Amino acid sequence: MIFVDTIPEPFRVPLQEVSIRKMWASDIETVAKLQRESFSKVETWSPQSYVTELANKSAAYLVAVYQERVVGFGGIWTVMDEVHITILGVSLAYRGNKIGDLLLSELLIASWGMGATRATLEVRETNDAAQKLYEKYGFVHVAIRKAYYSDNGENADILWINDMLAPEWRDLFERNRAALGR
Ligand SMILES: CC(C)(COP(=O)(O)OP(=O)(O)OC[C@H]1O[C@@H](n2cnc3c(N)ncnc32)[C@H](O)[C@@H]1OP(=O)(O)O)[C@@H](O)C(=O)NCCC(=O)NCCS
Repeated sequence: MIFVDTIPEPFRVPLQEVSIRKMWASDIETVAKLQRESFSKVETWSPQSYVTELANKSAAYLVAVYQERVVGFGGIWTVMDEVHITILGVSLAYRGNKIGDLLLSELLIASWGMGATRATLEVRETNDAAQKLYEKYGFVHVAIRKAYYSDNGENADILWINDMLAPEWRDLFERNRAALGR
C-alpha cells in the first residue's frame, strides 16, 4: 500500500469579505474548538473563562467572520493605560490570509477606545509566525520569562509597544491598516 502524505492547501480568502465583530456567548463553542488547534493545553482557556471574560468591562474579545463562520478570535485586557493582548488565533485552514493581522489591528483600535497607550504580550520564543506579526506592529522584545510554558519548558518573550501615541508608531499602524485595505 502507498501512503501519500498530503497537507491540505489553506483556504484563500478575500480579506474584504472578512468582518470583525465582538465575540458573542454563542461563539464560545467554536472559539474553544479553534483554540485547541492553535494552543497547547497549558494555554487553552475553558469555555467558562470566556463566559467570565465576556462580562469583564476591562476586557474585549473579537472574532473574525468569513461566510458566517468564525475563523479567528482575539482578546485584550486593559489596566490603566496598558493593554495586554491575552489571546489571538486563526483557524489553521484560514491562516496566511491576513486575518491575524486584521484581528490584531482591531484589538489595538479597541484598546485605544479603552484608554490604552502601551501594549504588551507574551509569546513563545519559537513561535515565528506570531513573533513576525507582532514585530510588524512595532512590538519590541523587552524581557524573557524563563520556562514560562509548563508543557515543554519553553521561554516566553515579553514584548511591548511603549507608546501608541508616538507619531512614528501611528504611521506604522496606518501603513499596516492601509495594506489591509481598511
Ligand atoms: C499568529 C497567527 C495568529 C497569524 O495569523 P495569520 O492570519 O495566519 O497571519 P496573517 O496572514 O495575518 O499574517 C500577518 C503577518 O504575520 C506574520 N506571519 C504570519 N504567518 C507567518 C509565517 N508562517 N511565517 C512567518 N511570518 C508569518 C507575517 O509578518 C505576516 O505579515 P506579512 O504577510 O505582511 O509578512 C496564526 O499563525 C495563529 O493562529 N497561530 C497559532 C496561535 C498563536 O500562536 N497565537 C499567538 C500567540 S501569542
